[in-house]
Amino acid sequence: MYFFLFLLLLIVTCTTSIEGQKKNCNVSPKDLYILEGSDTQILCESFCVDGRVYWMLNNKTVNESWSSSVNSTHHILSLKNFTLSNATVVCHHTDTKGVLGGTIVRTYAKPTVVDCIWHYKNGSFSGVPQLFTCTWEHEVSQKINYTLFVISWYNTSLQEMCSSEIAKTCTAVGSKHVTLAGNYSVTVRAKAKHWEIDSDPYKFYPRDILQISPPKLKLHSFTTHLLAECTVSIPSKKYYCQVKYSKVGDERQSEVLNKTLEASGKGNISIENIESCIYYKVSARCAWDKAPWSKWSRAQTILSQLNKSNVKTHLWRKVTEPEKNGTRKVYAMWTEIPSACHGTFTYFIRDTVSQDNGIQVDYNHHSCGNSICTFNVNEEAHRLKLIVFHNEEMLSEDSVYVPAVEETGLPQVSNMQTSTIQGVISLCWDAPSPLVRGYMIDWTHDGYEYYWKESNCTSTTLEGLLDKVAYNITVTPLFEDKTGLGTQVVQICTAIAAPANFSTITVEVTDKTASVRWMMQHQDLCSENIVRYIVFYGTGQGPQLNITVNSTNKEVLLKNLIPYTHYNMYIKAVAQTGASESDVRYFSTKSLDPKLVIKLLIIGSITIFLVLSTVICCAVQYRKFLENPLPDPGLSSVALWPSGTHQKGMFPFRLFNYPSESLCARVYLEDSRTTSSPDVCQEEYSGLGFASKSNIPKERPDDPEEAFTQSSSRECTELLANGSGQLSPYRSQGSVESPTQSYGKESKCLLPVNHQQLTASLAMYVTVDIFEQDQCR
Ligand SMILES: *[C@@H]1O[C@H](CO)[C@@H](O)[C@H](O)[C@H]1NC(C)=O
Ligand SMILES: *[C@@H]1O[C@H](CO)[C@@H](O)[C@H](O)[C@H]1NC(C)=O
Ligand SMILES: *[C@@H]1O[C@H](CO)[C@@H](O)[C@H](O)[C@H]1NC(C)=O
Ligand SMILES: *[C@@H]1O[C@H](CO)[C@@H](O)[C@H](O)[C@H]1NC(C)=O
Ligand SMILES: *[C@@H]1O[C@H](CO)[C@@H](O)[C@H](O)[C@H]1NC(C)=O
Ligand SMILES: *[C@@H]1O[C@H](CO)[C@@H](O)[C@H](O)[C@H]1NC(C)=O
Ligand SMILES: *[C@@H]1O[C@H](CO)[C@@H](O)[C@H](O)[C@H]1NC(C)=O
Ligand SMILES: *[C@@H]1O[C@H](CO)[C@@H](O)[C@H](O)[C@H]1NC(C)=O
Repeated sequence: MYFFLFLLLLIVTCTTSIEGQKKNCNVSPKDLYILEGSDTQILCESFCVDGRVYWMLNNKTVNESWSSSVNSTHHILSLKNFTLSNATVVCHHTDTKGVLGGTIVRTYAKPTVVDCIWHYKNGSFSGVPQLFTCTWEHEVSQKINYTLFVISWYNTSLQEMCSSEIAKTCTAVGSKHVTLAGNYSVTVRAKAKHWEIDSDPYKFYPRDILQISPPKLKLHSFTTHLLAECTVSIPSKKYYCQVKYSKVGDERQSEVLNKTLEASGKGNISIENIESCIYYKVSARCAWDKAPWSKWSRAQTILSQLNKSNVKTHLWRKVTEPEKNGTRKVYAMWTEIPSACHGTFTYFIRDTVSQDNGIQVDYNHHSCGNSICTFNVNEEAHRLKLIVFHNEEMLSEDSVYVPAVEETGLPQVSNMQTSTIQGVISLCWDAPSPLVRGYMIDWTHDGYEYYWKESNCTSTTLEGLLDKVAYNITVTPLFEDKTGLGTQVVQICTAIAAPANFSTITVEVTDKTASVRWMMQHQDLCSENIVRYIVFYGTGQGPQLNITVNSTNKEVLLKNLIPYTHYNMYIKAVAQTGASESDVRYFSTKSLDPKLVIKLLIIGSITIFLVLSTVICCAVQYRKFLENPLPDPGLSSVALWPSGTHQKGMFPFRLFNYPSESLCARVYLEDSRTTSSPDVCQEEYSGLGFASKSNIPKERPDDPEEAFTQSSSRECTELLANGSGQLSPYRSQGSVESPTQSYGKESKCLLPVNHQQLTASLAMYVTVDIFEQDQCR
C-alpha cells in the first residue's frame, strides 16, 4: 500500500520536474544565418527567473532600445541592418547577471558584380558563339555551390545554365539559352549548408556581350608605310579595331592605333612613321560596338621597305684629352643603314680640315671598327663628315664638329641630375643657351663601347641598359653647325647590386671559443655598402645564435661554446636594402683547451720530476744508510766469519730488510704445531741452510747443499721448538764459545735472498751453529 503511494509520489514529482524542464530559460533561434544588412529578431524566454533581462552582443551590452519585453517571460531583441559577419548574442538576467541563453548570428552576402560574355571556342571563327561565361564576386569563407540561371525575354522561368563549386565563374557550353535577338537576365544562386541566396539579376543584350573572334590580319609593306588589313568574322554596322605594332626585339615600346570600321567586315589600317628596313611585329583586335574586345590576333612580322628620303645617317664623336703636343684622338661613330636593307652600302668618312680624301670605311681598315673610326687630330677645330652611298648613289651625309682645344668657353649644360628607376636612367639638365638646337647624349659602361642618342629637350631617359652596371654619361649641346662642350656625370648605376660576396672565411677553434675572420670580394661600383655583419651560429639543436659586428670589423670571437661539439656558422653582410650571405661553415670545438693541456703537461712533468728526485734522493740516502750499518761489535764474532767469499754488503741488508725474529719464530711455531703441510715445510726447509761444522752461515741459499747439511723438517721443528723464542740474526753469528751458544739449542735464521722469495714461500734460511753438535739428530 505504502509502496504504491510512494510510486505515485515519484511519478508526480517526475511529471512536475519534466514540466519544470519544459519551462526552462532559452534563447532562440539557434545558429541564425541572415542576409547581410537585413533585420532579425531574437527571443529570450525567462521562465526560470523573475524579473527583467538584458542582452549582450559580442560581450558588449546592447542598447536598451533594441530590446523589448512582450510579457514577463518573453523578451525580444531586434537587430536592424545587421552587418557583422559573426556575432554572439547572450540573454542575461538583470538582477543576477546570470546567463539565460545565447545564440550565434552569422551573415552572408549576395554574389555581386556579375559579368558575362558570349564568346567563341578557341580556334572557332564564325557562326553562333558556343560559350557563355559569367564571373562574379562573393565574400565568403565557406564552401559554396553556385548555380547560374537565365531568364530570357521569351521565357520568364529560370533556366539553369551552369554551376560551379567554390569557383566564382562558370561557363555554359552550347548556345541553346541565348540568341542574338532580345534581352536576357542572369542570376547567380549561392547555396551553402545553412542558407541560399540569389544575386541581383544581371540584364544584357546578347550583342553587347558578344566577344568576336580575333580578326584575320594581313600585312603589306610599302616604302612609305605598312598596311594592316583586318577581317572580322561577323559583320556589324559598326565596330572598332586596334593595331599594335613594335620593332621586333623591342616589344615593350609598342604603339597602338585605333580605327573605327564601318559596315563591311574588312578594314585597312595604315601604319605610318616607320623606319626603313626594320622588322615589325603587328597584331590586331576588334570589338562590336559596346561589346568587349576580342583577343589579340597572333602577331605577324613584316619588314619595312627602304625609303631613301627617310634614311638619316647620324654621326657623333668622342674626343680624348689633348696630349702635350695638342694631338687628340677622335672616335667617330655613326648609325648604320640596317642590314635588312637590300643593296650595297658604302661609307666614307673624312676630316674636312686636313683636306685628305678620307677613309673608305670597310672593316679591314686599320682605324675603323664596327661603325666607328679613330682619327688623330691636332689642337685646331675640325669637322668630320660621313657620306653613305647606296649602289654607288649618294644616300645621305652628316657631319660633326670637333672644337679646338682652346675653345673652352663654348656653352655647356649645367645642373645635370640623374635618377634610376628599374634599370632606366633618367637625366635632366639646364639649357646653356636659347640657341641650342638639341643635345647629344652618349654613355658607356666600359669606355670602349659607346651608345648615343639625340634629344631636343633638356631631359631624356636611357633604356635597355645593362643591370647593376655603372655608366659614364655625357651631354653635349648642339648648335646650328657646331657643338658645345660635354658635361659628364660619372658612374651612375642602373641598379644597386647586393653587397659584395664573401671570399674567405677562417675559423680557429678552442674548446669553448671560435675565432672567425672573413674577407670580402672586391666591391663593385654598384654594390651596396655594407652596414654590418651578423654571424649566425648554432649546433643545429636549439636556437640559432647571432652576433652583430659593425662593418669595419671583419672578425669576431664566438664565446661560451660547448666543448667537443659540432657547430654550423654563416655570416650575413647587411647593407641598407640588401644582404648577402656566406656559405654555411662547419667546425667542431676541441675537447680540451690546448693551452690547458700544455699547462697540465708542464705541471705534470714538474710533479713527476719532483717525485722522482725525491725518490732517488731517498733511495740514495737509504742506500748510504744501509751501506754504513752499525753492527754491535759485542755480538759480532769476527773470527768465525768466512772471509773473502761473502758479499758483506748483502748480508746485513737482508737482515735489516726483514727483521726476522718474529717471522722466523712464527714460521717455526706454525711448523711445529701443524703438520698439515709437511711437504711445504720439507720443501721450504729443504732449502734451509744449516750451519756446517765450520759454523759459517751460507749467504747464498741458491746452492745450499754446497755449504749446508740438509735436515728434515721434523728435526728442524724439534730444534726450533726446543730453542728459545728469541731469535736474533745477530745471535746466529754467535760462536760455540759464547755462553748462549753453549746452550746448544740456538737456531740461526738466515733470511731469504730476496723479498719475492720470502713472500712467495716464506722460505727461511737459518744458520744454526748448534747443529754442529748434531743435537737435532
Ligand atoms: C507571453 O507572450 C507569449 C507570446 O506572445 C505567449 O506565448 C505567452 O503565453 C505569454 N506568457 C504569458 C505569461 O502571458
Ligand atoms: C526585353 O525584350 C522584350 C521583348 O523584345 C521587350 O518587350 C522588353 O522591353 C525588353 N526589355 C528591356 C529592358 O529592354
Ligand atoms: C555542392 O555540390 C556537391 C555536388 O554537386 C555536393 O556534394 C555538396 O554537398 C554541395 N555543397 C553544398 C554546400 O551544398
Ligand atoms: C618616303 O617617305 C616619305 C614620308 O615619310 C614619303 O613622302 C616619300 O614619298 C617616301 N619615298 C618613297 C620613295 O616612297
Ligand atoms: C585608342 O582607343 C583606346 C580606347 O579605346 C584609348 O585608350 C587610346 O588612347 C586610343 N589610342 C589612340 C592612339 O587614340
Ligand atoms: C668614368 O669616368 C671616370 C672619371 O672620369 C673614370 O675614372 C672612369 O674610368 C670612367 N669609366 C668608364 C667606364 O669610362
Ligand atoms: C624636337 O625634334 C623633333 C624632330 O626630331 C621636332 O619635330 C620637334 O619640333 C623638336 N622639338 C623641339 C622643342 O625642338
Ligand atoms: C639574434 O638573436 C636574438 C636572440 O638572441 C634574436 O632576438 C634576434 O632576432 C636575432 N637576430 C637576427 C637578425 O636573427
